[in-house]
Amino acid sequence: MKALDGVDLEIERGTFTAIVGTSGSGKSTLLNMLGGLDTPSEGSIIVGDTELARLNSEQATIFRRKRIGFIFQNYNLVPVLSVWENIIFPIALDGRKPDKTFIMQVVRLLALEKKLDSLPNNLSGGQQQRVAIARALASKPSIILADEPTGNLDTRTSDDVIGLLKMTGKEFRQTIVMITHNPEIARMADRVVRIEDGRIAV
Ligand SMILES: Nc1ncnc2c1ncn2[C@@H]1O[C@H](COP(=O)(O)OP(=O)(O)OP(=O)(O)O)[C@@H](O)[C@H]1O
Ligand SMILES: [Mg+2]
Repeated sequence: MKALDGVDLEIERGTFTAIVGTSGSGKSTLLNMLGGLDTPSEGSIIVGDTELARLNSEQATIFRRKRIGFIFQNYNLVPVLSVWENIIFPIALDGRKPDKTFIMQVVRLLALEKKLDSLPNNLSGGQQQRVAIARALASKPSIILADEPTGNLDTRTSDDVIGLLKMTGKEFRQTIVMITHNPEIARMADRVVRIEDGRIAV
């Protein structure tokens, strides 16, 4: 069985694309491939002028760290690191200095300022999700790939998160690709791509 089949998709720089589709249709697989976390058995993925398949695993890791902010469906926080350490982890791995003023602005907008010293396991699901969002935004990446970033948030917090993503997206001319089950969020996107059984539905 193929998780994705015959997908031909071009995403314009600086735009906000929503990916929708039923559970199991292939949305996370597509997003993982866009971020170089999964490799297609056929076809190619080109980000800017980089063909992902041409990168070895170390180059792919560096490319992801520098260019992409990934918000995972299951957060993927590091359990032994505090919230603050999680947020700056990718920047630290890259040997860069975090822009603390900017990151604190994001932290406050995500209402995480009182949790910076906590460990992820001591946070609620929604708080963990917001840490994952802060981590993805912290390095001001040119591309944000978000797998249901509001799946665990109430309507108001979810609106705040989308507002934040749109704001940073505009400020840093980021390309945002976001999987969502929420039709209201999809309506805010520049474009909606629907996946059905591993194919793009027209
Ligand atoms: N690592 C894997 N190996 C084999 N099959 C997989 C793998 N990951 C996902 N699949 C299969 O690929 C299909 C698409 O899965 P995917 O996770 O992309 O769905 P999804 O659209 O993100 O669903 P959801 O909305 O539930 O998150 C499913 O049938 C799933 O079982
Ligand atoms: Mg998924």
